[in-house]
Amino acid sequence: MNTELKLSDFDVSYVKGFLPIEDPLVALPHGWEFLDQFGNNLPELIESGKILTEAKLLPIPPDEYFRGLNKRELQLAWVRYSHIQSAYVHSQKVGPFSICINIAKPVVAISKILRVRPILPYFAYTLNNWKRKNSGGPIKVDNLELIQTFMRDSDQAWFNLIHVDIEYEAGLGVRNLWEAQLSVEMGHVVALEQALLNVIESIKNMITVMKRMPEGTSPETYYKIRTWIMFFENVIYEGVDEFDGKPQTFPGQTGAQTSIFQSLEAGLQMPKLEENRLAFHLMDMRNHMPEDHRRFIEYLEANSRVRDFTISSAPHLIGQYDECVDQELTFLAIHLGYAFYYIHKQTDNPKGTGKTDFMDYLAGRIKERWERAFIKPGSEADFKLFTNNVRKIVTELIAV
Ligand code: HEM
Repeated sequence: MNTELKLSDFDVSYVKGFLPIEDPLVALPHGWEFLDQFGNNLPELIESGKILTEAKLLPIPPDEYFRGLNKRELQLAWVRYSHIQSAYVHSQKVGPFSICINIAKPVVAISKILRVRPILPYFAYTLNNWKRKNSGGPIKVDNLELIQTFMRDSDQAWFNLIHVDIEYEAGLGVRNLWEAQLSVEMGHVVALEQALLNVIESIKNMITVMKRMPEGTSPETYYKIRTWIMFFENVIYEGVDEFDGKPQTFPGQTGAQTSIFQSLEAGLQMPKLEENRLAFHLMDMRNHMPEDHRRFIEYLEANSRVRDFTISSAPHLIGQYDECVDQELTFLAIHLGYAFYYIHKQTDNPKGTGKTDFMDYLAGRIKERWERAFIKPGSEADFKLFTNNVRKIVTELIAV
């Protein structure tokens, strides 16, 4: 491990984790007012159906204009355009689906600079899409609002902003994954113990926030939010030379694109998932993460020796290591419960926004981790107890 490297070399904040180091920008510079205006009116343009005609009137900035934007400006332009594009595609009632050149060209131009796929990702939907109501107040769901939205609907805002709050709480864990690896490098057992304890605390705080989801987003209304973040299937990007008029298919926005859990697993040096469609999907989701965060996960994957060291040189910390795994699985199991109540019970469509058969996929991931990630594995009976306990928690949360 290169001890000269710092979290900020991966655009990771010491305090806020994968949220931007500076709060996101809320308005573009002079000359780009048309984009802020269109973005701010998006809910009304969708509601009236005018989006399909009005979008064709948007100016098409030359590609080099995007290179002239600074980092925060470019992120805001991406937030705006990637939302507008999804709204445009999902407002079409019948195929063949297409994106007019006025949106397709800017989206592809920015996606090339950011090196991501040309579709709304989690980092535009969530990481860079919030502002504080009280600028001196905390990054907590109650003090946040969205910059860009598809609907004037408090359920949608709450859904996204709970993610932002969770990302903030993950900050403590992310910096301690880094500290854990440094402690191992230096053979500091006491420092490793503290880092693992902090990772546990961080995931517990994430769970506390996750439990607040039903307070503001109900299972009955969530389903309408989903429409706007679904995947693209055979969509033509008009006027984009490299696609040559051929229809494109891309996965939609999903929490699977957060860097939190992939970093946790890489940082704790958890055994890799089996080479199956589950592992493939999660790897593929990296193509929708900010490039620097992708590099962070890869760096931890290549360098972390936390698990090996715990086993060989600090066996008294196996309990703490396994507690990190247990807390991760608790979070993911509550999440599976939400997927059941918010989606599975509301629709016959078995596909997640990222195009997975999500119930099998999410449950499979928990089971596989249960079998592989603990240093001291739990039994089948422990697993049943664990899932029953979480089921009870979720049922109580949803019933409130
Ligand atoms: C009502 C709340 C939520 C529902 C209904 C929900 C639903 C889903 C679904 C259906 C998938 C599979 C999607 C696919 O890729 O096709 C998924 C994946 C995922 N979501 Fe959520 N989600 C919710 C909240 C959250 C929150 C708050 C987070 C926190 C960042 C999150 C993180 C994830 C992760 C990490 C995955 C990938 C699964 C894994 O790694 O095991 N989700 N979600």
